[in-house]
Amino acid sequence: MKRSIVPLAVLYVIFSTAQSQVQREIVPGSPLQGLTGHELELFREGLEDFNEVETAEEGLGPAFNGNSCGSCHSIPAIGGVATMTETRAGYVDEDGYFTAMNGETLYNLFSTGKHACQVAIPPEANVIARRVPTPIFGDGLIEAIADATIIAGEDPEDRNGDGIKGRASRIFDVATRTNKIGRFGWKAQQATLLAFSGDAYRNEMGITNDLFLTELMPGIAPAQAKLCDGKPEPEDVRNRLTGLRSIDNFANFMRLLAPVERAPMTAEIQRGETLFTAIGCAACHTPTMMTAPSQNPVFDRKAVALYSDLLLHDIGTGDGIEQADATGDEIRTPPLWGLRFRRPLLHDGRAASYYHAIEMHAREAEASRKRAEALSPGDRTALLAFLGSL
Ligand code: HEC
Ligand code: HEC
Repeated sequence: MKRSIVPLAVLYVIFSTAQSQVQREIVPGSPLQGLTGHELELFREGLEDFNEVETAEEGLGPAFNGNSCGSCHSIPAIGGVATMTETRAGYVDEDGYFTAMNGETLYNLFSTGKHACQVAIPPEANVIARRVPTPIFGDGLIEAIADATIIAGEDPEDRNGDGIKGRASRIFDVATRTNKIGRFGWKAQQATLLAFSGDAYRNEMGITNDLFLTELMPGIAPAQAKLCDGKPEPEDVRNRLTGLRSIDNFANFMRLLAPVERAPMTAEIQRGETLFTAIGCAACHTPTMMTAPSQNPVFDRKAVALYSDLLLHDIGTGDGIEQADATGDEIRTPPLWGLRFRRPLLHDGRAASYYHAIEMHAREAEASRKRAEALSPGDRTALLAFLGSL
């Protein structure tokens, strides 16, 4: 039996070497091309930390949604999505005013403690929302887009009369301690990958850090929370060898992670893309945006084929949750790059197919949805082929 293992291994090496010579394609989960040796090292360290499974002894919880970043960002490779949803809740009064009960809207799925530290949605909640993960591939390029470039796409008063009113998300970025334009997350709630790292480490894993110093435990009394936690904040401390915190490692990995490559172009996909623009989808799903000038050649004035304006819109799918600068009705236009590896679709995962997602577009996207519905069967197939090539 043992003897057959060696030739198999040899065959595998020959086969995979031959493959890598033919295939030039960048597989999902790869680093950006053109990185320096030092950057590749940061990418690898970041990837390792992103995938590390944490325990309660290391700070996980008391309330948490997952025990590693990778657990919810893994399809089709680390940095992608997952099939899970997380839960937010709030209260809206008769006048339409939104309140985050206990000051928070996120209710974690799990708890580590034996001390009754499972968070629960209060009975008075009348808005409950679910959210699927957003993918991270190419996020360093999105981070490198200047605030001014995003603002240039705004049209909150609908001056051009096309029925579309994009609005930039104006937030305070806890990483740079400046006002910035949010662009990450379904509500464009964060502007930088370091801030999102701090937010996710605390919100998803219950690991406090320099940017988010208190545990997220809505409705749990502080004394009870202390009993469950027992670890001093911040739980994320600097590595003595590298000087980096885990949130720095996550941000490095995500910043240097390449976008998903498009499928090879065909005549039908090309036609689908032309239709996508012709029927008004590209008015929000902006095909490309440019990054700002940068000292780093990898990020310097690059065309980013993200298919998003990174603005907040009301297309009638809003989850009712007010968060950062976004109202309950608003959702950020999701970038469509990498769409072919993503299921389910829309912020709450309600759409199983591209066409189903299109059918949910209303209000600001009413006109373009109607034009999509009016396409001939052949044109519709081409539009869907284009979406499936991203
Ligand atoms: C339990 C599942 C889960 C875990 C664990 C998790 N995430 Fe996420 N992630 C999500 C969900 C859901 C969203 C969308 C959240 C939203 O916008 O409300 C998201 C969004 C993001 C985004 C925004 C990407 C974009 O382009 O919009 C980043 C960045 C991110 N996560 C980083 C991380 C990091 C870093 C960790 C580990 C510290 C982590 N996530 C752990 C579920 C998870
Ligand atoms: C007014 C802006 C706007 C227009 C026009 C628009 N979209 Fe969207 N699109 C959005 C927003 C916002 C979402 C996210 C909604 C949600 O998740 O609740 C979205 C979501 C999607 C999704 C799901 C992506 C994901 O990650 O879940 C697809 C696919 C999509 N749009 C395709 C199209 C196509 C095709 C058209 C043209 C027929 C179009 N969109 C027109 C704003 C727009």
